[in-house]
Amino acid sequence: MRIDVLTTFPEMFATEPPAALGVSIPARAVKAGLVSIHATDVRDYTENKHRKTDDRPFGGGPGMVMMCQPLWDAVAAVEKAEATPTTRILLTPQGAPLTQVIVEKLAAKPRLLLIAGHYEGIDERVIEALAPMEISIGDYVLSGGELAAMVLIDAVVRLMPGALGDEESAGQDSFSAAAVPISKKESVERRLLDCPHFTKPREWMGQTVPEVLLSGDHGKIAAWRLEQRLSRTKARRPDLLP
Ligand code: ADE
Repeated sequence: MRIDVLTTFPEMFATEPPAALGVSIPARAVKAGLVSIHATDVRDYTENKHRKTDDRPFGGGPGMVMMCQPLWDAVAAVEKAEATPTTRILLTPQGAPLTQVIVEKLAAKPRLLLIAGHYEGIDERVIEALAPMEISIGDYVLSGGELAAMVLIDAVVRLMPGALGDEESAGQDSFSAAAVPISKKESVERRLLDCPHFTKPREWMGQTVPEVLLSGDHGKIAAWRLEQRLSRTKARRPDLLP
């Protein structure tokens, strides 16, 4: 997969440590050639000598608005760099909430073009002309779409076949939609939060590990884990239950 990002802060998308995409699973996926990440500076497509990408809003009010022309030209240039068609995505608090189901759909695309806006917003006319998917990572306002784009990249990249090690598994993640048809019971189970996990030592600060996990009885362990997932989901995220 190829991921392009349009931003006025391309340095945020470095893929060498200590950058966020330069460590852990994203870095491994990049090194293994499963994904390539290309950040493009929208400023390179400005036509004014100050390389200004934004201006004051018509109608007044606070903040600045990203202008149409630099973004439009940047999209055109980046899309021309390779024939693979892009799925255009604008990161914005006005977008549809990002879910694991959306992440899984995006992970199946050959090429994503992420647009990270800054300032108050982007001129609505270029949004309409580009017709991107609009995605929000939550009901709070970030300083710009860059961190949201990185969240999306991280979530997508870990689903690339080979990105996770043997001991890690994406299929059992909370919120995962099944790639293959599954029973109703299983589809409910996939929406549950994860169960608690424990490792060595068996006792820490006077706290022991739940006995059942030491029993070696795989049936009992699976039943306990499912029960924990249900009770946690009921307590913390009842909205996830049918
Ligand atoms: N840009 C600013 N805030 C955002 C959010 N919550 N999600 C996506 N993009 C954003």
